Amino acid sequence: MSDIKRIGVLTGGGDCPGLNAVIRAVTKSALHQHKLEVFGIEDGFLGLIQNRMRPLQWHDVSNILTLGGTILGTSNQANPQHYPIRHNGNTEFADVTDRVVEHVRTNHLDALVCIGGDGTMTGAANLIKHGINCIGVPKTIDNDLEGCEQTFGFDTAVTTAAEALDKIHTTAMSHHRVMVVELMGRNAGWLALHAGVASGSDIILIPEIAYELQKVCDVLTHRSRVGKRFSIVAVSEGAKPKGGDVVIQRRVESSPDPIRLGGIANKLVADIESCTGLEARATILGHVQRGGTPTPADRVLATMFGHHALDLLMDGAAGKLVVWKEGRLNHVDIESVAGKQRKVPAEHPLVHTARAVGTSFGD
Ligand code: F6P
Repeated sequence: MSDIKRIGVLTGGGDCPGLNAVIRAVTKSALHQHKLEVFGIEDGFLGLIQNRMRPLQWHDVSNILTLGGTILGTSNQANPQHYPIRHNGNTEFADVTDRVVEHVRTNHLDALVCIGGDGTMTGAANLIKHGINCIGVPKTIDNDLEGCEQTFGFDTAVTTAAEALDKIHTTAMSHHRVMVVELMGRNAGWLALHAGVASGSDIILIPEIAYELQKVCDVLTHRSRVGKRFSIVAVSEGAKPKGGDVVIQRRVESSPDPIRLGGIANKLVADIESCTGLEARATILGHVQRGGTPTPADRVLATMFGHHALDLLMDGAAGKLVVWKEGRLNHVDIESVAGKQRKVPAEHPLVHTARAVGTSFGD
């Protein structure tokens, strides 16, 4: 028999489709199967720092399965170990973990279900060290969480990105242009790889395989010479040329990962036009990849993850992250994945397949 009577649930980091499906599964399993009380923490760790939370009842999580975003709100800038405090017109950073621990205790939360990516798991690992039981649920459109082969939100983002690439295809054909489409994914190329293969992109550039501009241009020039009057380049925001660096859009100092990537598509268009003489255009898909209704596959995964998190908790597990591994639900220690990112291996089977059907990685 578990001592757990009341839990908190939060969504941290960048949002993604399927967060509400997890909140629903956690809350309904907790209320229905385990007769627990559930508190929804607002805006991720920010709500724990500022003591903002509310009870969640059955009706609060009804009709949210297909809803994008998160009914609890989120923040990818609230890091309790590095929290910005305004002082005499200056911003100073302080560790406010003790404040978070106090709010967990005074609200009588016996455990937290932390739905998030690597930043959130790093935050959860810190709370575990301070005696708070946390169970993690992996989300991210980037699919880059260590130890987990598929995060929810990824399938929806791939679907959105592939649909966009399909649309770019028709306008590329009409105007005989090179269309460079920039996809999210941070330092991992999963999203560009999957969407690129799904849409038959001619060139896929990912962070894990540094590209050579000349090779990219050779492929485009060759296509043009053999009568292919358009080309599609799917590029990860974190892609970089051999010996070169990523393109940074901005820094968000309070964020667990302060660097925001973006702009590589514009750089590539300029480079491609000058080295091939072909007309090129850039499209940056941006946050549209994080929005909208989760696909049925993501709804199923999110629901299984949420329910499994509760099962783990009630079985006495502590400090575990629910994962999808080798085709089934499993769990790993949160501490073992905190601060790590899962990258595309250069020899990944999908990279081989893409190469086999004539896709270039610019290397
Ligand atoms: O981690 C999800 C993600 O969408 C990344 O793909 C992207 O680099 C980043 O978040 C963008 O962050 P923000 O919402 O702060 O612009």
